[in-house]
Amino acid sequence: MEFVKLEISGGIAKVLIDRQSKLNALNAQVLDELESCFLELKEQAEVRVIIITGAGEKAFVAGADISQFPSMTSEEAHAFASRGQAVFSLIESSTKPVIAAVNGFALGGGCELALACHLRYASENAQFGQPEVKLGVIAGFGGTQRLPRLVGTGHALDLLLSGRMIDSEEAARIGLVNQVFSQAELMTKVEEIAEVIMSQGPQAQAFTLKAVYDGAGLHLSEGLKVEAGTFRDVFDTEDRIEGANAFLERRLPKFKNR
Ligand code: COA
Repeated sequence: MEFVKLEISGGIAKVLIDRQSKLNALNAQVLDELESCFLELKEQAEVRVIIITGAGEKAFVAGADISQFPSMTSEEAHAFASRGQAVFSLIESSTKPVIAAVNGFALGGGCELALACHLRYASENAQFGQPEVKLGVIAGFGGTQRLPRLVGTGHALDLLLSGRMIDSEEAARIGLVNQVFSQAELMTKVEEIAEVIMSQGPQAQAFTLKAVYDGAGLHLSEGLKVEAGTFRDVFDTEDRIEGANAFLERRLPKFKNR
C-alpha cells in the first residue's frame, strides 16, 4: 500500500496515513487502502486495539482531497460521499476498539475520520474543524451526523456553520476529544491507554461497542432493550465465566476472546 502503512506489535495495530506532501488528505486511493487495511485487521485475531494516526508532525488528515472538487459532478459527489461514509462506517463497526491519535490538523474528512473512531486523543498542536462551508460545500463523510451526536447540536453547528478551527483544548472542552497530551507524549500515552484496554475482556468490549452504537439515536426504552439483549448475549461467552471466577478467586482473568 502506498499511503496507508500498517504495523502490528504486541496486540496493537497502528494504521499510519502517510501522504505528507498533501497533509495526508484523503483521495480515492487513500480511502481504498484504509478499507483494505480494516478488512485485513478484522481477520487478525491477535490484534486487540487499533490506533490511527497521521504521518509527520503537522497533520492527522487535512480533509478530503480538494483538488478533485472543481471537476466533480453532483452524481460523482454523491458517490464520493457514500464511499467515504462506507469506509468510515467500516472503521466504526470494528469490534476491536479504534483510537484516533490526532497529531495535527484534523479538518473536514480528517475530523470526520476521528469521529468514526471510538476514542480520540490529541496532541497540543492539533487543530479541529469542519471547514467545508469555506469551500461552498458541506461535510460529507459523516460530519453532519456524527459531530452533533458526539458534542451536541449547538457545538456541532458552531463548527459546521463557521468553518472555524479549534485547538485541542477547546476540542476537549466540548467533548470532541477525550484527552490532550503534548506532541512528544501523544503516542506513548495512547499506547498506555491501548494496554489498559487490552487487559479487559475483548468480548465484553465488542458487545459494549455494539450496544452503544446499536442504541444510539433510539428512544431510551428501545435502547435499554438493546442493552438487555446484548447483556444476555455476553452471558453466552466463556470470557464472562472466567471474569467472574477470576474475581472470586482473587486473581487476574485470562480472557480467551471466546
Ligand atoms: N486536499 C488537497 N490538498 C491539500 C489539502 C486537502 N484537503 N490540505 C492541504 N493540502 C495540500 C496543499 O494544497 C499543499 O499542497 P502543495 O504543496 O502541492 O501546494 C500541501 O497540502 C500543504 O498545504 P498548505 O496549505 O501549503 O499548508 P499550510 O500550513 O499553509 O496550511 C492548512 C495548512 C491545513 C490550514 C491548509 O492546507 C488547508 O486549509 N487545507 C484544507 C483544509 C480543508 O478545507 N479541508 C476540508 C476539505 S473538504
